[in-house]
Amino acid sequence: MRLIPLAVLFALQALAQSGAPVGSAYWSANGKYVGSDRCAQCHDKQAKPYRESTMSRALSPVENCAALRGDIHFAFQSGDYSWSIVRHGDKILYRVSDGKENFEAPLEFAFGQGMAGQTYLFRHEGKFYESRVSYYADIKGLDLTVGAGNSKPRNLLEAAGRIMDGNEPRNCFGCHTTGARLGPSLQLDHYENGVQCESCHGAGASHVEAMASGAKGAATAIRPLKGMGPQEASEFCGVCHRTWDTVMNMGIKGINTARFPSYRLTNSKCFSLDDPRIACTTCHDPHTPLVKNAGYYDSKCTACHNKAELTSGKKLCPVGKENCTTCHMPKVSPPEAHHAFPDHWIRVVRVQGEYPE
Ligand code: HEC
Ligand code: HEC
Ligand code: HEC
Ligand code: HEC
Ligand code: HEC
Ligand code: HEC
Ligand code: HEC
Repeated sequence: MRLIPLAVLFALQALAQSGAPVGSAYWSANGKYVGSDRCAQCHDKQAKPYRESTMSRALSPVENCAALRGDIHFAFQSGDYSWSIVRHGDKILYRVSDGKENFEAPLEFAFGQGMAGQTYLFRHEGKFYESRVSYYADIKGLDLTVGAGNSKPRNLLEAAGRIMDGNEPRNCFGCHTTGARLGPSLQLDHYENGVQCESCHGAGASHVEAMASGAKGAATAIRPLKGMGPQEASEFCGVCHRTWDTVMNMGIKGINTARFPSYRLTNSKCFSLDDPRIACTTCHDPHTPLVKNAGYYDSKCTACHNKAELTSGKKLCPVGKENCTTCHMPKVSPPEAHHAFPDHWIRVVRVQGEYPE
C-alpha cells in the first residue's frame, strides 16, 4: 500500500472525528488562501485547462451565470403552482404564484453548470432557501429540483423553496466554493466561486511565500496529493463526490447512486485497495475537463485486462476490443436527474436496465 499523504490522512481523520458530512477538514486548515489567480502565475499548465472544467464553475452569483444571460424568461407549472425566472435590470427575479397570491425574491447563487441541473439559492427573512425548481440544460428550461417531488408544498413559501436549516448552507457552499466554509461556520465575505486550487491543495499562502523567496527542496508547504492509491483517492474525491460510507449513511439506494462514483467504483470487481491503476486520478486528471471520448479510457482498462495479466486472474473480453466503457460503464439516468451518469460499477451488464445496489 502506498503512503497516504499526511495532510490527507489528517483531513480524513478530522472528518471522521467531527462526524461532519464533508469538506470541513479542508476549510479549517491553518493558513491563508491566496486565490487561484496567484497559483496560475506559476502553474499555468494546471490552471489553464482547469478553467474549462465544470468543477471550477460549480457555483456562481446569478448575475454571472451563463444559463441566465440575456433577456431570459423561464416558466414552469405543476399542480396548483406556477414558477418563473425573469431578468429585471441587473437582477434575476424568482416568482411563484398559486393563482391568488404571489411570492417574489431575487435569486442570489446558482449551483452547478446545469449539465445535470442548476439550483438556486435565495434569502427570505435572513434564511437561505433552495429553489423548488431548477434549470436543466437538456430541456433548456425548468423542472422540479431533484428530491422536491417527494413532498407537496403546503403554502406559497414552501412552493418557492426548501428552507435550509442548521449546517446545510455551510455544507453546500463547502463543496461548491473555495474558502466560504471556515471550520464550523459559513462566511461569505472572502471566498472564491467554484472548486479552486486551494479546495484540494489547501490554503496556499505559506507555499507561495516559500516559492517566491526561492526556497528549494521538500518543504514546499502545500498538499502535493501525488501518488494517492485507489482507496485514498476515492476517499479524497469522495469528500465531495461522496464516499461509500456517506452513501450508505444517506440511505440512498439503486439508480440514484449513479451520481456517486466513489461508491459505485468501490463495488466493482476491478476495484482494489492498493492497485494504482484503478485510482480516480488514473482515469481523471483533476485539472482538465472530463474526457468524453470513450477510446481515451481503453488503455486504462487494458493496463490490467491484457495477456500478461492472465496469470494474476485478470480476464480478457470475448466481445469487444475498444470503447470498453460504452458496454461496461453504460450511462444511466436516475429519475428527475435529466442527466445520464456513467456507471462506475464496472461490470458485465447482463440484463438491460439491471442496476445492482
Ligand atoms: C511563485 C511561484 C509559485 C506560486 C505563486 C505557486 N507555486 Fe506551487 N510550486 C512552485 C514551484 C517552483 C514548485 C516546485 C517546488 C519543488 O519541486 O521543489 C511548486 C510546487 C507545487 C506543487 C507540488 C508540490 C510537491 O510537493 O510536489 C503543488 C501541488 C503546487 N505547487 C500547488 C500550488 C497552488 C495550489 C498554488 C496557489 C495556492 C501555488 N502552487 C502557487 C511555485 C509556485
Ligand atoms: C471540494 C469538492 C470537490 C472535490 C474535493 C472534488 N470534486 Fe469533482 N466536482 C465537484 C463538484 C461540485 C462538481 C460539479 C461541478 C458542476 O457541474 O457544477 C465536480 C465535477 C467533477 C467532474 C466533472 C468535470 C467536468 O468537466 O464535467 C469530474 C471528472 C470530477 N469532479 C472529478 C473529481 C476527482 C477525480 C476528484 C479528486 C481528485 C474530485 N473531483 C474532487 C466537487 C469536488
Ligand atoms: C458533499 C458535497 C456537496 C454538497 C454538500 C452539495 N453538493 Fe452539489 N454537487 C456536489 C458534487 C460532487 C456534484 C457533481 C456530481 C453530481 O452532479 O451529483 C454536485 C452537483 C450539483 C448540481 C448539478 C451540477 C451540474 O452542473 O449539473 C447542483 C445543481 C448542485 N450540486 C446543487 C447543490 C445544492 C443547492 C446544495 C445544497 C443544498 C449542494 N449541491 C450541496 C457536491 C456537493
Ligand atoms: C479536484 C482537486 C484538485 C484541484 C481543484 C486542483 N488540483 Fe492540483 N492536483 C490534484 C491532485 C489529485 C494532484 C496529484 C495528481 C497525480 O496523482 O499526479 C494534483 C497535482 C498538482 C500539481 C503537481 C503536478 C506534478 O505533476 O507534479 C500541481 C503543480 C497542481 N496540482 C497545481 C494545481 C493548481 C494550480 C490548481 C488550480 C488551478 C489545482 N492544482 C487544482 C488535485 C487538484
Ligand atoms: C477506469 C476509469 C475510471 C475510473 C477509475 C474513474 N472514472 Fe470517473 N469516469 C470514467 C468515465 C469513462 C466517465 C464518463 C466519461 C463520459 O462522459 O463519456 C467518467 C465520468 C466521471 C464523472 C462525471 C459524471 C457526469 O456527471 O457525467 C465524475 C464526476 C467522475 N467520473 C468521478 C470519478 C471519481 C471520483 C472516481 C474515483 C472514485 C472516478 N471517477 C474513477 C472513468 C473512470
Ligand atoms: C486495477 C486493475 C483493473 C483495471 C484498471 C480494470 N479492471 Fe476490470 N477487473 C479487474 C479484476 C481483478 C477483475 C476481477 C477478475 C474476475 O472477473 O475474476 C475485473 C473484472 C472485470 C469485469 C468482469 C466483472 C464481473 O462482474 O464479472 C469486467 C467486465 C471488467 N473488469 C471490465 C473492465 C473495464 C471495462 C475496465 C476499464 C474501464 C476495467 N475493467 C479496468 C481489474 C481491473
Ligand atoms: C460491445 C460491448 C462490449 C465492449 C465494447 C467490450 N466488452 Fe467486455 N464484455 C462484453 C460482454 C457482453 C461480456 C460478457 C461475455 C460473456 O460472458 O459471454 C464481456 C465480458 C468482459 C469481461 C469478463 C470476461 C470473463 O471471462 O468473465 C472483461 C474483463 C471485459 N469484458 C473487459 C473488456 C475490456 C477491457 C474492453 C475494452 C478493451 C471490453 N470489455 C469491451 C461486452 C463488451
